[in-house]
Amino acid sequence: AAKAREQRLSLTDVLAKAMGHYREQLKRSDRAIAYLKKRGLTGTIAARFGLGYAPPGSHALASAYARYDDPQLVEAGLVIHKHETGEEERRYDRFRDRIMFPIRNPKGEVIGFGGRILDSGEPKYLNSPETPVFVKGRELYGLYEARQAIRERGHVLVTEGYMDVVALAQLGVPHAVATLGTACTPDHIGKLMRFTDAVVFSFDGDAAGRRAASRALEAVLPHATDTRSFRFLFLPPEHDPDSYIRAEGREAFERCIAEAIPLSAQLMAVAASDCDLATPEGRSRMLAQARPLFEQLPDGLLQAQLLNELAQRGGLAPEVLAGHWQRAVPGGR
Ligand code: CTP
Ligand code: MN
Ligand code: MN
Ligand code: MN
Ligand code: MN
Repeated sequence: AAKAREQRLSLTDVLAKAMGHYREQLKRSDRAIAYLKKRGLTGTIAARFGLGYAPPGSHALASAYARYDDPQLVEAGLVIHKHETGEEERRYDRFRDRIMFPIRNPKGEVIGFGGRILDSGEPKYLNSPETPVFVKGRELYGLYEARQAIRERGHVLVTEGYMDVVALAQLGVPHAVATLGTACTPDHIGKLMRFTDAVVFSFDGDAAGRRAASRALEAVLPHATDTRSFRFLFLPPEHDPDSYIRAEGREAFERCIAEAIPLSAQLMAVAASDCDLATPEGRSRMLAQARPLFEQLPDGLLQAQLLNELAQRGGLAPEVLAGHWQRAVPGGR
């Protein structure tokens, strides 16, 4: 028993071993290497991010571990175990014929993977399931690799995708991280605040990206104290950070970062969407839409500034707006 305990690896060790396996497989696959080259990635950047390749077979991982039926492989999310009643039980690799992006926690331990299909097919990305070491909505891809650059630059760039982080790093923008196919959550922001007090969001220019931006706004509001900075960068509709920096170059992308709009402007824009501010109805609607956002701000001077600004745009004296919002709060005066 003592021996068995000794031999039991932690889940992160099991996952690190998978990363090693996928990296080896990448070296052997001309097709996977050609795909990464087509995406403009070098071997150096692939090594920095530990990129790998899961080959097509259903039991390719069997060659990497002593026992393919080790329950830890299932627990780590690497092997799928089907054992429905009446059916023969089956085990097979979750990730097959995919480019593998290891997800590390800030300590550098591998906690999961994102796997991109080569070329086209569904789903485009397959992510590790939730496991004891991988909680979605809390982890950020690339944070470990970017942590030094985030400190040096004094801010972090938050993107949507794995490829955005890797491409930006290769082209000289090394301080980017990505949410993992989920909306940006207050937990994500809390985690980032341990590294920096300034965040620039750069979402895709598509409809999904705009939705992601309004979710991000809600996630940052409770964290928006007076000394922190949150800004939003909008790329042209056809672009994401990867495609934009490849098309326009690093300097153009850095200019976008410099021109990113502050939280206050983004809040105003979201509040004013579908509102005609030339009419009392439109201004009232804008204020009604602003209110649930405004109320998530912590008490402070930024909150006071925004009240002033909203009142001005809403065509009311600040005292009137403050009085109205307070009266409407249950228990407020
Ligand atoms: N995503 C996901 N599952 C999908 C599609 C997307 O988890 N089926 C997540 C991935 O983290 C992906 C991000 O959402 O990186 C953004 O999606 P998208 O913009 O569609 O992909 P890109 O990152 O731009 O990927 P690529 O450039 O390889 O097409
Ligand atoms: Mn900065
Ligand atoms: Mn997108
Ligand atoms: Mn992309
Ligand atoms: Mn994208």
